[in-house]
Amino acid sequence: MNGLELNKIAAAILVAGIIAMVAGIVSEVLYEPEHPKTRGFSVAVTEAPAAGAPAAPQIVELGLLLASASIDKGKDIAKKCATCHTFGKGEANKIGPNLYGIVGSSHAHKADFTYSDAMKSLHEKTWDIEALYHFINSPQGAIKGTKMAFAGIKNPEEMAAVLAYLNSNSDSPKALPKDLKIK
Ligand code: HEC
Repeated sequence: MNGLELNKIAAAILVAGIIAMVAGIVSEVLYEPEHPKTRGFSVAVTEAPAAGAPAAPQIVELGLLLASASIDKGKDIAKKCATCHTFGKGEANKIGPNLYGIVGSSHAHKADFTYSDAMKSLHEKTWDIEALYHFINSPQGAIKGTKMAFAGIKNPEEMAAVLAYLNSNSDSPKALPKDLKIK
């Protein structure tokens, strides 16, 4: 190997180094837009904490709401469900299963209804008031992959009324939880 070849090799290594460095700079430039975002956000927080901070999680005093919930009002609100569900004892399934006696029963409680895999996989779980709250409040949010295509009831008082109605709609209504808080 003569001196000229060594020079070529050295030059090649140098070029490779420069390319790596430039690539580094380029990727930094490409990712740069991320930085101002972060900075802008923290500035917003110091200037206006209320607007910038995420909303504090609302606690729903479901026990209290249940204590004064109207079963009749719940029955009325449950008309929203009647496109897909029947409520009376022994009535047929529709798009969704019959819901007689749902409080305290297992998930996927009807043997003659074809549930989603997501619902079937929870068969060991009991439909207590808390589980029903989360599911009826946000079906997809509570059980990802459920085939219940319903937006959910958002108003806590309406939720309490529906739950009181579902509980009453049974051979053996359960004692409603008094201290239940939902986060
Ligand atoms: C658009 C149709 C539709 C509407 C409206 C609807 N549901 Fe459903 N519901 C379903 C289907 C379908 C299932 C089965 C879900 C699965 O298998 O994932 C279901 C399942 C359920 C279950 C679980 C039953 C079980 O056996 O585990 C409950 C509880 C329930 N619905 C309550 C309600 C209530 C209360 C309302 C009204 C506030 C409502 N649903 C509105 C279609 C509907």
